[in-house]
Amino acid sequence: MWNISLKIFVSCFGLALWLGLPTPAEVQSQEREKDMAARGQYIFAVAGGCACHTVPKGTPHVGAREFPIPMAKVYSTNLTADKETGLGGWSDQQIHDAMVKGLRPNGDQLIPAMPYEAYSGMAHEDLKALVSYLRTLKPVRKENPRPQARVRFFRPLVTPLWLKLFGRFYDPPATAPKSGVERGRYLVEHVSLCGDCHTPRNFFMAPDRSFYLAGTKKGPLGEEIPNITPDKETGIGDWSREDIAELLLSGTKPDLDNVQGLMEEVVQAGYKNMRREDALAIADYLKSVPPVKNKIK
Ligand code: HEC
Repeated sequence: MWNISLKIFVSCFGLALWLGLPTPAEVQSQEREKDMAARGQYIFAVAGGCACHTVPKGTPHVGAREFPIPMAKVYSTNLTADKETGLGGWSDQQIHDAMVKGLRPNGDQLIPAMPYEAYSGMAHEDLKALVSYLRTLKPVRKENPRPQARVRFFRPLVTPLWLKLFGRFYDPPATAPKSGVERGRYLVEHVSLCGDCHTPRNFFMAPDRSFYLAGTKKGPLGEEIPNITPDKETGIGDWSREDIAELLLSGTKPDLDNVQGLMEEVVQAGYKNMRREDALAIADYLKSVPPVKNKIK
């Protein structure tokens, strides 16, 4: 009996190989890849759809969005799988190194406008899934504009020095915290990067940790960014956890107004697709950070 089953199995297997059909092992690995990309798509959403890599109302994920930084103008890059202008020719390891170390395949150091320091704390499983999802972005040809610096050698000289003085890298866990305030902290710090906009920067463009999430009059594009610490007067101390989750999932504030600008962008490009329990975990974490008095508007 066993003998016959084995013979049938072996002949089916041989036939499949001969017909060029995927073997069961190949099918399994394709399924695993699909599953991983789907998990990566979720991380991408919680990361605000990596909205900096899309010009508002432009083709998604092809970069070329201008960000002013002191002494220079930089442009986000093409994330699609295009071989020449996007990530299509990069290995998984190269995408990984750009995301967590800020290193391009040619060894250039990216300036920390790309938040690779914060992403360095992303759990291995989440980062792997994210890279796998990036591979599925339909290739679109779009040349990256060259960064413009007022001082020559700005990037190769200043960035390593800046990283030495202010760089803050993390030791990532293998897997992400699954629930509670710890999950909220993880998402805020290493995936959704709320502080990238909501924490002010000092003269050297380093985040001012004593004003963690306390807003700024001059955000990444020069606009006002509200204080989201639990301070009752100047922050969002009187918002409930459901209010905060609702804002992340729909862009609607408790006074039924809609958020605008960069916040609307990250909500629409991604946050709105996060699971309610993740939005609530973020809300619980925001309620746990020290209240900071900082009046923005
Ligand atoms: C890309 C920049 C950016 C990121 C990232 C970002 N925000 Fe915002 N956020 C803003 C801006 C700009 C506003 C003001 C919008 C407006 O004026 O309508 C805002 C408004 C808010 C408000 C409304 C506060 C109020 O008093 O009206 C909350 C709450 C908030 N953000 C929470 C978050 C959380 C939580 C995260 C991370 C999960 C986050 N934001 C990530 C830019 C950002």
